[in-house]
Amino acid sequence: METRTIPLQGEAAERDVAERLARGELVAVPTETVYGLAADAANGEAVARIFEAKGRPRFNPLIAHVTGRPMAERYAVTDALAHRLMEAFWPGPLTIVLPLRPGAPLHPLVTADLPTVALRSPQGGLSRILAYLDRAVAAPSANRSGRVSPTSAAHVLRTLDGRIEAVADGGAAAHGIESTIVQPGGDHVVLLRPGAVTAAEIEAASGLPVRRHDGHTIVAPGQMRSHYAPHGRVRLDAPEPLAGEHFVAFGRLPEAAAARAAAVFQLSETGDLREAASRLFDALSTFDAPEIERIAVAPIPREGLGEAINDRLSRAAADR
Ligand code: TXA
Ligand code: MG
Repeated sequence: METRTIPLQGEAAERDVAERLARGELVAVPTETVYGLAADAANGEAVARIFEAKGRPRFNPLIAHVTGRPMAERYAVTDALAHRLMEAFWPGPLTIVLPLRPGAPLHPLVTADLPTVALRSPQGGLSRILAYLDRAVAAPSANRSGRVSPTSAAHVLRTLDGRIEAVADGGAAAHGIESTIVQPGGDHVVLLRPGAVTAAEIEAASGLPVRRHDGHTIVAPGQMRSHYAPHGRVRLDAPEPLAGEHFVAFGRLPEAAAARAAAVFQLSETGDLREAASRLFDALSTFDAPEIERIAVAPIPREGLGEAINDRLSRAAADR
């Protein structure tokens, strides 16, 4: 794939990027913090491609970018404290973790199937693109996993050239450091990741104490082993179902084998890892019911996105 550089000047260029995102393309976009690797947050295959392009071995939850409070309220349940934080810091480098609104048009890969969503209303090029698109954009930093966050289009190309459709060049990112991530508590604010907004600024704006989450890195609830575990026992690397098992298939399943299963959930008939990644959480929750005791899952190659898929599956299958 050839990665195209789009100078982000003028409305035509902004509309071009919005249309690319609407078509399911991956485009690196400037924000005031760092460049983000953007995809339509409702499009599961596009979101799966973010993990693939970054080479992320796990499906960490991503920040959903919105334009301001009205759009945020389509995705999250907000309260007075959330409103105060939005008023004080949006648009800007503060990400707020809030309860996910039931039925919100977000693919579950964005939240790693958590009951919360991280929302941010950015400044810079992405904010104008969002206004055209009129829906949320998932965007982690636009770098290969484990490499430093990019603050220019050239910096993005250093690790993602050939892996994404385009990079929108909006010049140097102003902050050069990621957003601060907070989660409002009733009478305090939890700091999940330090960033461009300081704890003192948050205390001043909210009138509440900021409590630090222990450790620097986020322990996203989705990283807990049991989070993905359905009620039933999970047998991995099963080429075919045993009689009565609920079967998660990957690739074509012979009819005789399918007939033995209590039910079959097909991740991808053609063995496409992107499609499988985008359907994985749906499969696990479809088979998560008290009456379903035995689930078997077909082998999934461990390369590319398969690493993240197998990471989640091994958590689902772990002893509890
Ligand atoms: O400045 C930024 O925040 C940049 C620009 C592009 O907006 N984005 C960014 O995204 O840094 P990323 O994916 O590198 O970091 C997102 C962080 C992850 O550490 C993730 O664990 C956390 O946000 N996160 C996302 N959703 C969460 C949730 N529901 N609960 C807790 N943490 C969450
Ligand atoms: Mg990052």
